[in-house]
Amino acid sequence: MRSMITTNSVEETETLGERLGARLFPGSVVTLEGDLGAGKTALIRGVCRGAGCRVRASSPTYALMHLYEGPVPVCHFDLYRVARADEWVAMEVEEQMDGHNIVLIEWPGPVAELLPADRLGITIAPGAHGEQRVFALTGDSDWQRRLEGLTE
Ligand SMILES: Nc1ncnc2c1ncn2[C@@H]1O[C@H](COP(=O)(O)OP(=O)(O)OP(=O)(O)O)[C@@H](O)[C@H]1O
Ligand SMILES: [Mg+2]
Repeated sequence: MRSMITTNSVEETETLGERLGARLFPGSVVTLEGDLGAGKTALIRGVCRGAGCRVRASSPTYALMHLYEGPVPVCHFDLYRVARADEWVAMEVEEQMDGHNIVLIEWPGPVAELLPADRLGITIAPGAHGEQRVFALTGDSDWQRRLEGLTE
């Protein structure tokens, strides 16, 4: 599956995230790629809401990992400052991907080799105007089924 979705404001991105969050499940691994200010954290804020978490994801922050409590806990990694995955980062990422949490990873490059093949990949690119963003979602046929009607 490769599906393209355009948003025209940060609110629309949060709404998209909320709809996505409602479709994630324990063990979901989602990677988020895109330049600084692309909207990765904005989408994750929506995902947290959609997954029923109380705490809102924020950016910027110096923490590599946040855990948001909810019916299914959401684990949010931001590996921007990680050049190469050291043992701690690798261990932490693998531990979080044990099937209990929803795992969201901004700047997944350093842990690319650890990621499961059945992850959902999201790449965000700028659109035609300043507040437009284009989201490319890539995943297997299970994701295709799960995300059917995401924008309706
Ligand atoms: N359509 C849009 N979707 C998301 N954010 C938007 C949109 N239009 C404008 N923005 C603005 O772009 C910024 C996105 O910031 P955000 O922290 O989500 O980016 P990020 O990809 O997480 O960046 P970083 O890599 O620095 O963490 C915000 O200031 C937001 O208001
Ligand atoms: Mg961010």
